[in-house]
Amino acid sequence: MCGLHTDNPLEVQIKLIRKYLKLKIMADNVSFRGHEQERNHVYDLFKRTVSHGESHSALMIGPRGSGKTTLINSVLHQIGQEVDLSNDAIIVRLNGLIHHDDKIALKSITAQMQLENAVGDRVFGTFAENLAFLLSCLQSGADRRCKSMLFVLEEFDMFCHSGRTQTLLYNLFDITHSQQAPMCVLGITNRIDVMELLEKRVKSRFSHRHLFIFPNEYDPQRAPQYKYQDLLVQLLSMPVKPKTATKKKRSRRNTVTSEDIEMEAKIAGDSHTLPQPILSRINLDQLNQDFVTDWNNHIASLREDHKVIDCLEKLCYYTVNEQVFRNVLFELVSKLSADSPYIEVSNLSTIIDKTVAPEHRVKLLQSLSILELSLVIAMKHGMEIFDGQPMNFEMVLHRYTKFANSNSSTQTVPRPVILKAFEHLQELEIIMPVKTTDSIYNSGDTTASRVQKEFKLYTLAVPNEDISDAVKNFKALPTEINHWFNNSVV
Ligand SMILES: Nc1ncnc2c1ncn2[C@@H]1O[C@H](COP(=O)(O)OP(=O)(O)OP(=O)(O)O)[C@@H](O)[C@H]1O
Ligand SMILES: [Mg+2]
Repeated sequence: MCGLHTDNPLEVQIKLIRKYLKLKIMADNVSFRGHEQERNHVYDLFKRTVSHGESHSALMIGPRGSGKTTLINSVLHQIGQEVDLSNDAIIVRLNGLIHHDDKIALKSITAQMQLENAVGDRVFGTFAENLAFLLSCLQSGADRRCKSMLFVLEEFDMFCHSGRTQTLLYNLFDITHSQQAPMCVLGITNRIDVMELLEKRVKSRFSHRHLFIFPNEYDPQRAPQYKYQDLLVQLLSMPVKPKTATKKKRSRRNTVTSEDIEMEAKIAGDSHTLPQPILSRINLDQLNQDFVTDWNNHIASLREDHKVIDCLEKLCYYTVNEQVFRNVLFELVSKLSADSPYIEVSNLSTIIDKTVAPEHRVKLLQSLSILELSLVIAMKHGMEIFDGQPMNFEMVLHRYTKFANSNSSTQTVPRPVILKAFEHLQELEIIMPVKTTDSIYNSGDTTASRVQKEFKLYTLAVPNEDISDAVKNFKALPTEINHWFNNSVV
């Protein structure tokens, strides 16, 4: 046994483990856990569009890092294995942050449909004409059947922010609504109030199918840190060959190959090994099984470590974004070396502390204008007085005006400017709209969506300590504001 270790020096083993785990943590964007109902729903919509030529639209809503994109990838991967996706369908992926105006979006749609040559120098009168032309190009075959189209619109809310007409959405939803072509339009967003952003004409053509992805859904009884604890062990474990298979192969060689791992995964019923295309990026020939067993025991022992749970609890307090958690693990794995071949809990703790450090949030608050910061303070006071109840613009304005009036030195600001400042706070995600029971679940009733923006309810999305830090170190902050912050009486 000892001989094996000298054949494969520690350095080589650690390097392989590091590389494999990095791939496991970051590169696998297809394996999806949980949310079965929502996944089946998306699968169903896509499959029916591709196989039966139906038309559908839907919105998927969930916080950042809850796995929305991964869900879509895993569904497309599965359908790709069942039908010939590249021949039967066209997948168009748009992102509201990238395709921030309709012209750019249309250009990208044309490119993704591979119709740049067909369009050539043609000039179109309207957006709808252009889209109709693209669709007509796709009709082929004797029955002039159109290929099915799957539109995935990431950052969907950015397609309907103010200052942008919703022509693209209108046209896409119109096609699904009137069943002009087999098309599925799926919007993905983390804005719970997204329906309120849609124009009436767009809304009336949308199917009102909502899918919610809640990050901690599959075991609401357990605190999220226990989910992370499982995930930590799962993501940091290396694949092991079952004993019987190991012996057989070992007579020939002492090493594990990627095929062995795949076979082992099938035998063990382990769904957590990497998909083949990613596995092929790493050559595990030199990986030693005994070393892997040691490693896995070491990782399993982390599960029992109370300090690990404490660290994860701290992380969960700030965010349940799995991407952030994976970034932490990635950094942790990167620190492995022959000199420190094991996961150090102290490292985990340092990385988590660094990740949740309030610096960037405090910096963001310090970059606000005095007026914007005043609104944050007004909101903080208001929420303190009313036991954390959300507030609307009018309530914040009321508190702010009261303060401004009691201070002759504070400049009076016109109401539209204050409203603009308030909206900016929302764009920066310093304040967040709250889910009102009547807005989404009751989307048939349009009265809720007609709530004027001044009366929409918001809550503060930054911790009080951060506001306090920001105020303390704010450059050239008028003393009366500082005083106001420290005395909530006014
Ligand atoms: N249910 C899940 N199954 C597997 N992986 C997941 C799951 N949820 C999150 N992840 C992992 O967390 C990371 C973030 O997920 P993803 O990018 O899909 O989130 P998202 O909801 O699309 O976030 P955003 O709103 O920022 O786009 C990915 O690395 C993904 O592998
Ligand atoms: Mg995403």
